[in-house]
Amino acid sequence: MNFENILTYAENSILIITINRPDKLNALNKKTIDELNKALIEAEKDVAIRVIIITGSGQKAFVAGADISEFAHFSVEQGKALSAEGHKNLFDCIENLSKPVIGAVNGFALGGGLELAMACHLRVASDNAKMGLPEVSLGVIPGYGGTQRLAQLVGKGKAYEMIMTADMITAADALAWGLVNHVTAQETLMTKCLEIAGKIKSKSPTAIASAIRSVNANFKDSVNGFAVEIEEFGKSFGTEDFKEGTTAFLEKRKANFTGK
Ligand code: COA
Repeated sequence: MNFENILTYAENSILIITINRPDKLNALNKKTIDELNKALIEAEKDVAIRVIIITGSGQKAFVAGADISEFAHFSVEQGKALSAEGHKNLFDCIENLSKPVIGAVNGFALGGGLELAMACHLRVASDNAKMGLPEVSLGVIPGYGGTQRLAQLVGKGKAYEMIMTADMITAADALAWGLVNHVTAQETLMTKCLEIAGKIKSKSPTAIASAIRSVNANFKDSVNGFAVEIEEFGKSFGTEDFKEGTTAFLEKRKANFTGK
């Protein structure tokens, strides 16, 4: 599939998606969000893909936010639609994807950029990365899930501080606060992400998908996460992956999961 604002590269069951607008610090405009949505939906359908890594092109920015030039003149209704469509097409889409998505945060992750990283299941940052939600500087609030996911990841107090001060934090602080899983030198960022992806891709895709649904259930209104876990746990007993995983263990060999 040909895209204008993103690059895709698949090897060894891992798809790397690079947001490629370096002259705009990879800011998320509508076209980029639509292309990311298409690439993610394709990847979800493609049995050959087991893990997805999202990063930004260049060494300066992961994503410097939503594209301010696109919404500067929006009305109340347009603003609401921008947020709702973004949630649906990108941020919720990633969070609820049945395949793990790793955010490789290679520089500035601001506003929609940090929201994108936070929608990913895991985050690895390079040591030059700076993260923040500067929206209140523009007279708006984070509208792509930032008020919810930041509080989930770092707690309410630190989330309020980041949102209200609009300050950027360093990769080291992000690691200490639990906002990212790992920090590496920029040169080894992709190696670290591939190492994690390599471990995940050898595991059962059906079990991983169940784990994503179960963990996410904890953060959904009027859904009982424990009930979802019981359901998903039970369902795994009906999969070929379960048969293969338990048989391989008893036969003292490595499991070869098909994702069925
Ligand atoms: N939307 C649209 N364009 C953006 C952008 C965004 N969120 N972030 C950066 N850009 C553009 C700049 O307008 C500039 O374009 P130009 O060369 O055509 O003028 C280009 O990317 C480079 O950015 P610049 O500001 O010159 O780089 P810098 O190194 O001086 O500063 C940042 C880097 C990240 C601190 C600064 O770009 C910034 O504050 N960006 C906005 C962050 C933000 O508020 N995000 C939340 C949006 S809701």
